Amino acid sequence: MPTETVSENPANPAGKSASLPGAALVIGAGGGLGAALVAQLSGAPGAVGVFPTVLALGRSTEPALDYDHEASVQAAARWVAAQCAERQLELRLIIVATGFLHGAPGQPERSLAHLDADYLRNVFQVNAIGPALVMKHFLPLLPKQGRCVAAFVSAKVGSIGDNALGGWYGYRASKAALNQLVKTASIELTRRNKESICVALHPGTVATALSQPFAKTGLKVRPPEEAASDLLAVLQGLTLEKTGCLVDYQGATLPF
Ligand SMILES: NC(=O)c1ccc[n+]([C@@H]2O[C@H](COP(=O)([O-])OP(=O)(O)OC[C@H]3O[C@@H](n4cnc5c(N)ncnc54)[C@H](OP(=O)(O)O)[C@@H]3O)[C@@H](O)[C@H]2O)c1
Repeated sequence: MPTETVSENPANPAGKSASLPGAALVIGAGGGLGAALVAQLSGAPGAVGVFPTVLALGRSTEPALDYDHEASVQAAARWVAAQCAERQLELRLIIVATGFLHGAPGQPERSLAHLDADYLRNVFQVNAIGPALVMKHFLPLLPKQGRCVAAFVSAKVGSIGDNALGGWYGYRASKAALNQLVKTASIELTRRNKESICVALHPGTVATALSQPFAKTGLKVRPPEEAASDLLAVLQGLTLEKTGCLVDYQGATLPF
């Protein structure tokens, strides 16, 4: 079933109580974390960071955004630009909550012997190449003045400095690539708008389809609503010096 792509929040028509006024966009809106982010931004009970207009895109929305087809990413960006022009809104927040760890293309590798070119291609496609295409087509839609935030959901296991356990070669490497893309894009964005912030986010372990096979007893797994609320609170409080960083759901900067 297609996800609703635009939600209006009459309780907050002018965005007066939002600390980041304007329109918010979530890409990956059909995922566990993405859906929770849309709900929070749209004013779910106790929500953090409510926006007057929330745009939601994913593979099941209209328009659909699928990383396997750059034309769909470009067309979705044109749709967002048209929505903002029509409603006289500025796009102030983009959150990219897409990701891949396991599925038909394969499982994360436990050792070198498990490395598989098809799995590697897919994990890089969804976790790094797709978000890079989002940067290409969507970041130019952010305003040239005033605070705006682009956040890409990454993972702590993508941190090279924090890697003590090994394993999950493809997922780790693709998230490390994403972190580098975020850092590089943050520099270009700052040249364009000194008040822009571009970050990678670590959401913690969240109860979604992505983590389900790996959620071990004893590991702290949080509901998507809680993770979404934490991440939005972190985004609201981000200062400019955090741009280009990998930030966790408590606001701590993690090593690359
Ligand atoms: N869950 C955790 O414990 C955890 C921990 C650390 C980091 N993360 C990160 O958090 C983010 C959100 O993951 P999640 O837990 O919400 O997982 P999820 O429920 O499996 O959601 C994954 C999302 O990625 C989208 N996606 C997959 N392939 C795509 C493609 N080719 N083109 C466009 N979109 C595609 C899915 O779209 P469809 O809805 O169309 O399938 C879905 O929206 C990911 O970046 C993940 O790596 C999660």
